[in-house]
Amino acid sequence: MHLRETELALGLIDNTIVILVAMKPEAMPIVEALGMELGGRLHPCYPIEHYSSVKRPHIHLVINGVCPRFGVDNVASQPATIAAFLCIERLHPSILLNAGTAGGFQSAGSSIGDVYLSYPKVYFHDRRIPIPGFQEFGLGSYPCPDVRPIAKALGVKTGSVSTGNSLSSITEDLEIMKGYEGRAKDMEAAAIAWVAEQHHVPFFAIKAITDLVDTDKPVQEAFLENLATASAQLALKTVEVVEYLESHGIPALDGTERMEPKCEAIDPRI
Ligand code: ADE
Repeated sequence: MHLRETELALGLIDNTIVILVAMKPEAMPIVEALGMELGGRLHPCYPIEHYSSVKRPHIHLVINGVCPRFGVDNVASQPATIAAFLCIERLHPSILLNAGTAGGFQSAGSSIGDVYLSYPKVYFHDRRIPIPGFQEFGLGSYPCPDVRPIAKALGVKTGSVSTGNSLSSITEDLEIMKGYEGRAKDMEAAAIAWVAEQHHVPFFAIKAITDLVDTDKPVQEAFLENLATASAQLALKTVEVVEYLESHGIPALDGTERMEPKCEAIDPRI
């Protein structure tokens, strides 16, 4: 037995990996590739689904689920925030991953099906609050662990991921993303990154490109056309990321050690 396997067996280190996915069509190829089964919901009030496998009990996948009113996947930042909180509270991940699809930038050399790991940061591009302090808060600028060695080993790209609550973009969004060289535009990563940061849980996103936001083709058309192929690519690379983390360990935020969560000033009356 190698040292890492011995430490895992003795419970000296933990390798619980939780993959959070917004849409079922993005998630199911990963569920199938990892041989997972539906366990149930994470909370009675939300349709958030938990998948796991008997063979690899340290790997969990959580899907935001379908909105009971509108019958579509619960995309964007509010469901992602709740799901991230429940993932951390219920499953205690050593690392939280967000796998999903994203818009790319032709001007930055992206093509449909490219996969990005979020590095160096994850931002919000549609929380425009031009007041000192609030401006920075709005952008978020959440740092990710140094995933460049993982990206190199897996033959995928790295770049900052940028989150907003719209599939389409207005000029101001595009200008803001240009400012920090956003490479993948999604609707969840920064919301999840914020929750992970509160709990000191390392986080990074894995994003497969379905559409190019700086071309004439409407993003919704390209998204629907390319969702299945990009999701297949996403599953392939997500499984490889999981295998990499299983054999190399969990990267910490500062590249060295994992911070322990701090719980301060919890109201003793509740
Ligand atoms: N997911 C896939 N394409 C996207 C886009 N253009 N914007 C936001 N989220 C996306």
